[in-house]
Amino acid sequence: MTETVLLVGGGGREHAIARALADSDADLYACAGNRNPGIARVADGFESLETTNPSAVTAYAREVDATLAVVGPEGPLAAGVADALDDAGVYAFGPQEAEARIETDKAFQRRFMERHDIPGCPVFETFEDMDAACEFVDEFDGDLAVKPAGLTGGKGVRVTGDQISKEEAKEYIRESDYERIVLEERLVGEEFTVQAFVANGDVRVTPAVQDHKRAYEGDEGPNTGGMGSYSDATLELPFMDEDDYMEAVEVLEATVDALEGYKGVLYGQFMLTADGIKVVEFNARFGDPEAMNTLPVLNTDFLDVLTAARDGESLPKLSFAPRATVCKYAVPEGYPTDPDSGARVTVDEDTIERVNERYRGDGGESNAVADGGSSPEVQLFYASVDERDDGIYTTTSRSFAVVGIADTISVAEEIAEDALEAAGDGVRIRHDIGKPDLVQQRIDHMAELRGE
Ligand code: AMP
Ligand code: GLY
Repeated sequence: MTETVLLVGGGGREHAIARALADSDADLYACAGNRNPGIARVADGFESLETTNPSAVTAYAREVDATLAVVGPEGPLAAGVADALDDAGVYAFGPQEAEARIETDKAFQRRFMERHDIPGCPVFETFEDMDAACEFVDEFDGDLAVKPAGLTGGKGVRVTGDQISKEEAKEYIRESDYERIVLEERLVGEEFTVQAFVANGDVRVTPAVQDHKRAYEGDEGPNTGGMGSYSDATLELPFMDEDDYMEAVEVLEATVDALEGYKGVLYGQFMLTADGIKVVEFNARFGDPEAMNTLPVLNTDFLDVLTAARDGESLPKLSFAPRATVCKYAVPEGYPTDPDSGARVTVDEDTIERVNERYRGDGGESNAVADGGSSPEVQLFYASVDERDDGIYTTTSRSFAVVGIADTISVAEEIAEDALEAAGDGVRIRHDIGKPDLVQQRIDHMAELRGE
């Protein structure tokens, strides 16, 4: 039977999901608040709607006779879109609202970890009384992370000793109007992400990825949703070893055990510290950008994962191409604090194609870079842009990404940079992501922390 899949969401992550399903035996329909040209091109239908409105999403699911749904972003999960789809008889790969609290309520998440004795939980305290929170800041011996309990698009956390002083932390707590916050020990180390497909009690993990949250090169500036990310040809990253990766996997497995009945993607954000792995946060969905590192190297048919999940079967064992990836986002000027929305975005897709031909060695003057068995390639993912009759326009979030795929991180980075020649004016890019210097800094940082 040909499946009909409804994809909810219109960012770079969802374009990666759409492309992963494009070659499967599925008819794909998508809905989002913005018209993502990349998704629209591979989908059989694209509907503009408010994705946090459960009845609007289920109405479209019914209209297209969806047999499955994939919910990309956290907003719809928090709004109960997975619950509504499940109730309407359309299996949603994505947790229901109650299970999504593992992401949408950071106070719940920390207490949950404590209650179930899940390893890697930092010292924390939750507050509704902001005066009490400020007292805690004064009394706490060491630096702290201030985290609003609710969703902030990755932009609400402030870390003392890194971004702000303790005095500024108290000002932030008093002035921000958050109803509940979490204060927790500052974790020092290198961050990485491990995502897992979860359903029917199975946990199928994917390679580790390192995102870059800070807006500017050299890890300066405010936190963003993520400016870009890389993964290696192995499951782990260059600054960690296999045991570190396995420790993260054990945390995910313990969390799924404790959650009972969780379905969808469980995303663990970890800090590798001198004392091992700590959990920075969980997300109830694929990471964005991390989905763009993971799905292009997934050899297993993603549709098989989805149908097994729905049909109550064991999830297929995953197979990944042993290839490194480097993803770089182009974001509107001013992102994240004052993004220039409504600006024209240009991407020269012919340039992307020419770069691919050059690396394949069947075009251009230079031969393919020596890079083992298969030639490097680059993929373009449209993100939170809006396609109108007369062109593509920025919104308040990230615009598009290129992902280089090769046998090594450094070649993947080079091809991503070559492809960025396709980017027109008016976007900002962190060119340092995935460059040998920055990767080496991560390795040196970890070696220093471990006293090696
Ligand atoms: P989140 O919104 O939880 O993803 O946090 C955003 C970013 O804040 C993370 O990616 C970390 O870089 C940083 N962060 C969060 N919690 C901590 C912590 N306890 N210690 C240090 N940094 C943190
Ligand atoms: N890359 C961080 C996130 O998806 O939340």
